[in-house]
Amino acid sequence: MHNRIFFLTVMLMAAIYSQARERQNFDAGWRFILADSAQMAGQSYQDGHWRMLNLPHDWAIEGDFLASNPSGAGGGALPGGIGWYRKTFTLSGDDALQSRYFIEFDGVYMNSTVYVNGQEVGHRPYGYSSFEYEITQFLKKGSNVIAVRVDNSDQPNSRWYSGCGIYRHVWFTKTGKVRVAHWGTHVKTLPVAVADRKWWTVAAYVTLDGVTNEKVQVVNTLYDATGKKIGSAKGLSSTIRVPEPQLWSPADPHTYKLLTEVVVNGKAVDAYETLTAFRDFRFDAQTGFWLNGKNMKLNGVCEHHDFGCLGAVVNEDAMHRKLTKLKAMGVNAVRSSHNPPAPELLNMCDTMGLIFMDESFDMWRRRKTQNDYARFFDEWHERDLTDLVLRDRNHPCILMWSIGNEVLEQWSSAEADTLTLEQANLILNAGHDASTLAKDGEISVNTLLADHLAEIVRRYDTTRPITAGCNEPSPNNHLFKGKAIDVIGFNYHHEWVKDVPQNFPGRPFIMTESVSALQTTGFYMMPSDSIYKAPKEWWLPYTDPTMMCSAYDNMHASWSSTHEETWDVVKHTPYVGGQFIWTGFDYIGEPTPYSFPARSSYFGIIDLAGQPKDVYYMYQSEWTDQPVLHLFPHWNWLEGQEIDMWCYYNHADEVELFVNGKSQGVRRKMDSHQYHVMWRVRYEPGEVKAVARKDGKVVREQVIRTAGQPDHIQLSIDYQGKTTTFVKAEVVDKDGNRCPWAENQVFFETDAEIIGVDNGCQTSMERFKDTKRKAFFGRCFAVVNGHGTLTAKAIGLKSNTIKL
Ligand code: GAL
Repeated sequence: MHNRIFFLTVMLMAAIYSQARERQNFDAGWRFILADSAQMAGQSYQDGHWRMLNLPHDWAIEGDFLASNPSGAGGGALPGGIGWYRKTFTLSGDDALQSRYFIEFDGVYMNSTVYVNGQEVGHRPYGYSSFEYEITQFLKKGSNVIAVRVDNSDQPNSRWYSGCGIYRHVWFTKTGKVRVAHWGTHVKTLPVAVADRKWWTVAAYVTLDGVTNEKVQVVNTLYDATGKKIGSAKGLSSTIRVPEPQLWSPADPHTYKLLTEVVVNGKAVDAYETLTAFRDFRFDAQTGFWLNGKNMKLNGVCEHHDFGCLGAVVNEDAMHRKLTKLKAMGVNAVRSSHNPPAPELLNMCDTMGLIFMDESFDMWRRRKTQNDYARFFDEWHERDLTDLVLRDRNHPCILMWSIGNEVLEQWSSAEADTLTLEQANLILNAGHDASTLAKDGEISVNTLLADHLAEIVRRYDTTRPITAGCNEPSPNNHLFKGKAIDVIGFNYHHEWVKDVPQNFPGRPFIMTESVSALQTTGFYMMPSDSIYKAPKEWWLPYTDPTMMCSAYDNMHASWSSTHEETWDVVKHTPYVGGQFIWTGFDYIGEPTPYSFPARSSYFGIIDLAGQPKDVYYMYQSEWTDQPVLHLFPHWNWLEGQEIDMWCYYNHADEVELFVNGKSQGVRRKMDSHQYHVMWRVRYEPGEVKAVARKDGKVVREQVIRTAGQPDHIQLSIDYQGKTTTFVKAEVVDKDGNRCPWAENQVFFETDAEIIGVDNGCQTSMERFKDTKRKAFFGRCFAVVNGHGTLTAKAIGLKSNTIKL
């Protein structure tokens, strides 16, 4: 509410000063075609037969999964190609040409070329960079056309699903002659004395853009979240002193806003807002990570950018749902693997309180897939990295930059050029050759390249450390030899963590990426106390006819570990600042340990449809104060079958398990290295019950009942956003128990709009854009835009309707 008042105030000011900038969302009313011709850029080109749509848009997610799609299973087995977007708009009013106009794209995957009225305005290869063009000189009064060519035809170019098209928002901005430049503020908050953190300063540096002979003045004013004015200062560089501000942290993400006004001849001509916050942090070689004087772990996850069945399309509700589920698990940090994120993600992390690692590239000069960014790196890296830092450096959530993920420049020679995408993934993760490390004292070209990238970052921001995701843990990794890396970051290699103090004396350390365990929601491989490595060694194939992975925490890739194993190292090693688990959510592409028809990942703690896998509750029991008692798996098996029942719990001394009232024994976690308890029991239909006790008193209970015959569909709202609602459909028996083996085809009907369906199954070949979905272990989801009702039907079951 307070934020809204503040926003209204700024709007009001914008209205009073007629020349102030007008920034409008430009997503609505585009035309699209999946075809290519040079004529499509032309102003008079007839696009009336093209499809009408609103951005953001991802054409790949609308396609079929095919082995023959050149993205491969690693890229999600969805189509690529070349597409065009066109939008016609009008400039009216006598003074229309007195202003300046800018068009801004948050992200276009990839190789975009923008034309205005037939003239080329600019080209950007990297699909994750945000960019702006001034288009004043191309516009005329009356009707104008913007055309965008998007070329994602050279594949594979990504190790995960990228999406295709203008998949992030587009903005149109009108300003006066002089404006705050694009990303033209740099706001730094610093405690005057770290020891007491009483007085802070807000230092603001403003870059103007535009020419005038008149006198220009810049005024910066700081407001708190309620809209209360805290202080102000004049000048292109100015400092505001703030007594005892409210600090930003994941638990209490207090933010402030700096309003920058540009005044010409006493008249405000531009107003520009920058969100800011007060927090201080450091990484210590002995004690790990500190925020606002408090020692804590970064309990982080890596995230790719897709939203499952919605594809790469930026959907703020889906984004908020993601972050809400992660926060509830106890996550306090996110890494945008391995590329610049959508601006909205950073905004949400600022206001929801999630620490962020902002990562630039998955490759430098050496490619990982045939047509990836390596082919543009030499020409574009400086521009793309600069743009990332300029765009993002004011975000309080960002506490470190990553200049790359597992780049092949860690070694003096390592090529993935001749490999398939699947082979490349395996080899990158495990198959590097130690003889290609730097010699003692050697500063190689690769080391200099890392230093050069770090220098670009430091040119624009010196307030955050630089790291890189390194899967070569030796100190002779070329990246570690120079001045680039402030915080040593390992990907995996938890067994090397004990050597960090000797190998990297005095240098702080985190696990930039960890775990890579493999799980399918609802599928369990017994005996559960065996560890299944998939594949056993990185060079061997892994096959299993189910094409599923085990949702007990007992299966992982050959280069990685179970969740418990890595968490145990992080938890008990003070100098480990934290970890970023691979991954929070499943994502499309990289279906290790399988290949097509598997087409999405098994790594997530939460599946592609948004359902927490069981291990979610292990983290919740360790990372939050919330009481947890989570018993699994379900209770529908063959009579007499031996079943392993696992339980995650906290805030209790012991748990007792009962099968149909008969005790199966009491279990206790023996020490701080144990994370679950287990009973091996004989299945008989009925119920299984876990009873948790503290000081001899029952504090929590959980019962799972054997489900009878499928009877009806039960609908519930999993998450409701401003526009988008995620509805869960479960096949249940007459008493409402989920039937864990049900695979009924569920048909959805609505007066709103279904924008996606999913069930979390990594091998489903059903389209994401559909109105029906098979249940997978008894569940599926519909994602709906708008309001009204949603009905779910299935043959032989009673249907159900829910209000949205
Ligand atoms: C890492 C890599 C990730 C992903 C992961 C799978 O090495 O950085 O992008 O491929 O392995 O385990």
